[in-house]
Amino acid sequence: MKLLSSAVLLFLVLGSALAYKSYSGYQVLKTAPLTAAAMPYVSRMSQRFDFWGTPGVGRPATVMVSPEEAPVVVAAFNRMRVSHEVLVADLGPQVETQRAEREALKVSSPRKPRTASYDRFMEFVEIDAHIHETADGNPAIASVLDLGFSYGGLEFHGLKLSNGQPGQKAVWFDCAIHAREWLSTPVCLRIIDEVVANPALRDLADWYILPVANPDGYDYSFTDDRFWRKTRRPTADANCPGTDPNRNFDFLWDAGNPTDYCSEVYPGTGAFSEPEVAAMGNFILDIADNLVLYVAVHSYGEMILYPYGHTVEPVPNVDQLIAAGTGTASADAIAAVAGTAYTVENSASGLYFTYGASDDFAYGRGAVEFAYTFELSAGGSGGFDPPASQIQPVVDEVWPGMLALVEYVLAN
Ligand code: ARG
Ligand code: ZN
Repeated sequence: MKLLSSAVLLFLVLGSALAYKSYSGYQVLKTAPLTAAAMPYVSRMSQRFDFWGTPGVGRPATVMVSPEEAPVVVAAFNRMRVSHEVLVADLGPQVETQRAEREALKVSSPRKPRTASYDRFMEFVEIDAHIHETADGNPAIASVLDLGFSYGGLEFHGLKLSNGQPGQKAVWFDCAIHAREWLSTPVCLRIIDEVVANPALRDLADWYILPVANPDGYDYSFTDDRFWRKTRRPTADANCPGTDPNRNFDFLWDAGNPTDYCSEVYPGTGAFSEPEVAAMGNFILDIADNLVLYVAVHSYGEMILYPYGHTVEPVPNVDQLIAAGTGTASADAIAAVAGTAYTVENSASGLYFTYGASDDFAYGRGAVEFAYTFELSAGGSGGFDPPASQIQPVVDEVWPGMLALVEYVLAN
């Protein structure tokens, strides 16, 4: 097993040196805060171009463009009177530098999967080994969740942490359903660390944690393409493989998603067409009786989003959702650490409508009364490629927010 995984790692390292996508000439454009008038256009553009973060009214939007796309997007912005600037003139050097840093760290730091690393980004195989090590080392409280195989044949796993008492309430956290959102995974790993170390947290609830929800995509973003978002299953268009897993859940899947295979938010051929998504979604339904809180961790945006993504109509318990997200709870606890101000918002408040997202699924299918998507800080140049030095501060400020949220939800 050990031997096999080192062989796999060696292959990944060698393979990646040959094929890694160069982002030379790619730009990141940043708009002025979006007006309500511009929002519908930007929302439509976001189905075709790669918008980073979550566009919304009153917030600047960022979009990554290839050299071919740049003039098209610039012209569209100009027509819509959306003023914008170049945030990153050339992504190539940055991608290369961060990659070189990762390679250097690999050589100097031995892999110790029993503990999670927060000084560098861990690869999928290491994280999976870490999950098993954690379960093996703590058999009384930890068990591995078997989610089956990804499309690409990676067996992937979550972790359940419990004091063993039957009938306890349960909370769920998943990370890295979008492959390139690497900062999210260490947040899941930190939750695992905390709950393993603190019996009181296990008396509070059973904890279900899935550190890498999109294993093929996550792995691919290490080996081939830093900004890969989707899964890796081919589509009918050979040029555009992959489905946005966060548009593939079985809730209002066909209510308005794009059909363009090349869209970064292409939702797949049907709800749960992606094996990873089906496994996760069905698991959540299986534990729905005890589940009280669902949290998806994404980057970036410094937002705590609550359902729904397809309508700005308030859901029945909207006041409770907001109170748990702000109040004496989550966002305040985050701000107390280093002053980072997360806003608490309806997912569709900026009229960026989504269908088939995981949080709406968990909430809309009745699995939980509290469902959130956390959009972490961007780190670094304000994108999906934060330096590893951003991991620790982000994790340190977000953990208290997660804990406050769990405590609030269980008390209410
Ligand atoms: N940036 C995330 C996405 O586009 C946000 C999802 C928030 N939830 C929602 N239902 N829109 O997938
Ligand atoms: Zn995301």
